[in-house]
Amino acid sequence: MRILSGIQPTGNLHLGNYLGAIRNWVLMQDEISAQGGTCLYFLADLHAISMPHDPATLSANTREMVAALVACGLDPDRSILFNQAQVPQHAELQWLLNGTARTGWLNRMTQWKDKAGKNREGASVALYTYPVLQAADVLLYQSTHVPVGEDQKQHLELARDIAQKFNNDFASEENPVFTLPAPMIPPEAARIMSLRDASGKMSKSDPSDMSRINLTDDADTIMQKVKKAKTDPEPLPSEIAGLEGRAEAKNLVAIYAAMSGSTIEQILTDFGGAGFGTFKPALGELLVERLAPINARFVELRQDRTALDAILRKGAEKARALAVPTLERTYEALGLVRG
Ligand code: TYM
Repeated sequence: MRILSGIQPTGNLHLGNYLGAIRNWVLMQDEISAQGGTCLYFLADLHAISMPHDPATLSANTREMVAALVACGLDPDRSILFNQAQVPQHAELQWLLNGTARTGWLNRMTQWKDKAGKNREGASVALYTYPVLQAADVLLYQSTHVPVGEDQKQHLELARDIAQKFNNDFASEENPVFTLPAPMIPPEAARIMSLRDASGKMSKSDPSDMSRINLTDDADTIMQKVKKAKTDPEPLPSEIAGLEGRAEAKNLVAIYAAMSGSTIEQILTDFGGAGFGTFKPALGELLVERLAPINARFVELRQDRTALDAILRKGAEKARALAVPTLERTYEALGLVRG
């Protein structure tokens, strides 16, 4: 098994990133490295330039995110932790895959439609071809499994389509160039929603900080955000069916389940009949208890820029070594002469 996943270094990690993806990254690292497999996790800094950005903030966020990932339990000695910008093979493979990706496929991407909005003419070309770079990220390493939240599923399906078409057009079924990757989406935390409006996902681009729990929030802030989270006046049901049409309640229960490593059924067995006056403080305490050690490690690690740069440099070196053979095979399959 080869596991790979990425995150954009566009600011603080929040609970959606953590429960939807990072926590799985850590679990996979522990499981896969014990079996002799490889886990690659990277900061998608090349993706981050698809939206308007400030260069100084991007480099600061990239280093902060390394500190945050290590604080969450990623071990740079067991996982390959790097940023795309130090592995030029990502951008090279993207160009090669641009010949295979179809514009019709990209036009259907919901992230492109959401982020470009009505202003398609003014959106960057990078935002449009973003999913092809994401396909390159995954295919470059012959990744078998990609732990992500639900919102990335469509991009991974596109990566599979590109791999399949490339294999059909330029290789053979017996000797394919690319492995077809499978998404791994956590059932309880596939989509953590905003605390202010559960019709939208928890996101770093939401202007209201009250909509998300950041991994850097202190205990008081976490308690306050949970207490102020939008809910309805009904007590919690004892069965899942009772959460139907109660998106906010469902979200908070899902957060509790994911954070405690339990199931929604179990949480409803424990809290069925209780009001939010009881449930919210319990959820707040659980979050504080689990996030406090991460927060403390993060605050310490983020100060050591030399150590963070060394982690990225070392990770990039290992990533490049794994990337080169697939890239060379791709050039060759396309008939591009490489001396
Ligand atoms: P990004 O940076 O938006 O998010 C990182 C990871 O967090 C998950 N996530 C969520 N999961 C559940 N609920 C939420 N509210 C929530 N918000 C975010 C995302 O699904 C993701 O797994 N395009 C990617 C980065 C990327 C990538 C890749 C991922 C680039 N190349 C190759 C996998 C493989 C992105 O912007 O994720």
